[in-house]
Amino acid sequence: MKHFLNIRDISKSNLKKIILDAKKRKKKRKKFNILDVDYNNPLQGKLLIQMFEKSSTRTRLSFYLAIRQLGGSALTLRPDELHLAKGESLPDTAKILSTFGNAFMLRTDSDNKLQEFKKYISIPIINGLSPSSHPTQVLSDIFTVEEITKKSISKLKICWIGDPNNNVINSLIESSVKFSFKLNIGCPVNYKPKKELLNWAKKNNGKISVYNESTKAAKSCDVVFTDKVISMNDKVNKIKKLKDFKKFQVNSNVMSYAKKNAIFLHCLPRGSEVSNEVFLSKKSKVWQQAENRIHVQKSILLYCFDKLR
Ligand code: CP
Ligand code: NVA
Repeated sequence: MKHFLNIRDISKSNLKKIILDAKKRKKKRKKFNILDVDYNNPLQGKLLIQMFEKSSTRTRLSFYLAIRQLGGSALTLRPDELHLAKGESLPDTAKILSTFGNAFMLRTDSDNKLQEFKKYISIPIINGLSPSSHPTQVLSDIFTVEEITKKSISKLKICWIGDPNNNVINSLIESSVKFSFKLNIGCPVNYKPKKELLNWAKKNNGKISVYNESTKAAKSCDVVFTDKVISMNDKVNKIKKLKDFKKFQVNSNVMSYAKKNAIFLHCLPRGSEVSNEVFLSKKSKVWQQAENRIHVQKSILLYCFDKLR
């Protein structure tokens, strides 16, 4: 069995295998209903337990559908329903989850909690978003980029405009190293990517450039990403942060600096970081991006169960 906690922990070859498996599985489902099970029924009889300590629409639904399409089932827990929130220990909870379920997906407001569960659990644990990482989202986004452009992401220039230090950009930085793509980050001068992460990327031949003007960051890029300025975990002065990022909205002017056929992606939900015009434009592939979470998470689950061919 394998855990899926951060892109950084997973080998390049396994990450590529997950993407390839997702491509093949998605293709084979063209005429399937949403709850039809894949031909080989690979996770028949398996239970995915998922727990959300924070809101979720896409991750919740896509993991439910992912395990169902693989022949298994999902049980979604609310943290306030468990004794864990009221004093039962994490090791005891991990033991129970490992006895009753076959995999555990956790969306949490504590990176440490993921590490603690990893210590005590004997089934695969998947990070469904933590303050520092959103690996299932970003791996799926790489799948979407390659699906739309029909090119290896290593041949493309990717741009991120917005908060340079949140869970999604952190996983994107890790991915830029694993998948060897150029990454431009556009953000205000007083905001910087996580230092330790940039140092790790540099040491591992990362090709990351930081710009303090959004148009410079977007110049000649194939893909423009953004995310909400205020993340669920943010404990900052929200009014100030929104003001600081005002010039970093992805609008038609910013998109005009990217390549002519550039696409726009956003993990969702959205705020004021993207104009309505760009969000609703032909360049925006956000709905396809959201749907792909199902396909890639199926292959992530198979990776965790050592069932990836
Ligand atoms: N993008 C994403 O993870 O969406 P949810 O918060 O709705 O799960
Ligand atoms: N950075 C965002 C991602 C939401 C899917 C957040 O953490 O709120």
